[in-house]
Amino acid sequence: MSESAASKPIPGGKDVLVEFEDGIAWVQINRPEKRNAMSVGLAEEMNEVLDALELDDRCGVIVLTGVGEAFSAGMDLKDFFRATDGISDVARHRAYRSTRAWQWRTLMHYAKPTIAMVNGWCFGGAFTPLICCDLAIADEKAVFGLSEINWGIIPGGVVSKAIATLMGDRQALYYVMTGKQFDGAKAVELGLVNEAVPKDQLRARTAELARELLAKNPTVLRQARMAYKFAREMSWEHAAEYLTAKVDQTNFVDPEQGKQQGLKQFLDEKTFRPGMGNYVRPK
Ligand code: ACO
Repeated sequence: MSESAASKPIPGGKDVLVEFEDGIAWVQINRPEKRNAMSVGLAEEMNEVLDALELDDRCGVIVLTGVGEAFSAGMDLKDFFRATDGISDVARHRAYRSTRAWQWRTLMHYAKPTIAMVNGWCFGGAFTPLICCDLAIADEKAVFGLSEINWGIIPGGVVSKAIATLMGDRQALYYVMTGKQFDGAKAVELGLVNEAVPKDQLRARTAELARELLAKNPTVLRQARMAYKFAREMSWEHAAEYLTAKVDQTNFVDPEQGKQQGLKQFLDEKTFRPGMGNYVRPK
């Protein structure tokens, strides 16, 4: 298979819309009439879209967001929960597998950087893709909630595990047990998002962050993201061995030879200071 699929049309167009803008792929959940609740059909479409974008040269960074007033109102109570009750065990397994694939397996280990842009309602299952994106920016008035307790279920899927990676136990259990809502500013305090900004600045600020990532060495950026995510699950001993090997592997696979360039520019040419900016990337 070719490394680049830039000329291929991107799948989706129904429940998932994609818009390209100078290296940024804006991936939008497009079920505004259902507040972007996540159905089985959406999962199937999103899997195809994310798969295609990983090989598409027009995409250097993904921004995941929602059309309309919601980021996502969580799992679709009708077209996910009710739809998977009473079907065969095999059909249910496939529906869950599709959902797990995009919401965490793919996003967590995606080859390109990912930013969640929380533009409105964010409930229940929506915490999983939110947390599995590398970074997140929210509308300061966005409304978040682990609402599961309010209608008789637990934060399932993998929500309980996902929130435990970013939130402290006291805070996580408070919201799990009360189902209380909180806003974008509180989401920053809880470590769920990096920043909260006024709605009219949300897209511009997200694009600015995406452009900052696009200016980095993409190979080293990918290796750094992966190294962090795997190392946090390891013991110190394992992490030290893994990270040492990962540094060597990064040198080996980096076509820009960033480390050598950086050393040369700092030590020999004295043209840059690593603490103050980027080395000049080779053209
Ligand atoms: N699943 C299925 N349909 C949904 C969902 C959902 N999670 N959220 C909203 N919808 C549908 C509504 O049923 C309604 O459909 P209809 O027009 O066919 O009746 C439509 O979206 C609009 O919803 P409203 O409630 O009318 O919109 P409003 O703007 O007043 O409220 C809000 C938005 C607060 C998000 C509300 O819809 C809501 O509480 N949704 C459920 C949120 C939730 O608890 N999600 C967690 C689910 S559990 C989980 O994810 C594991």
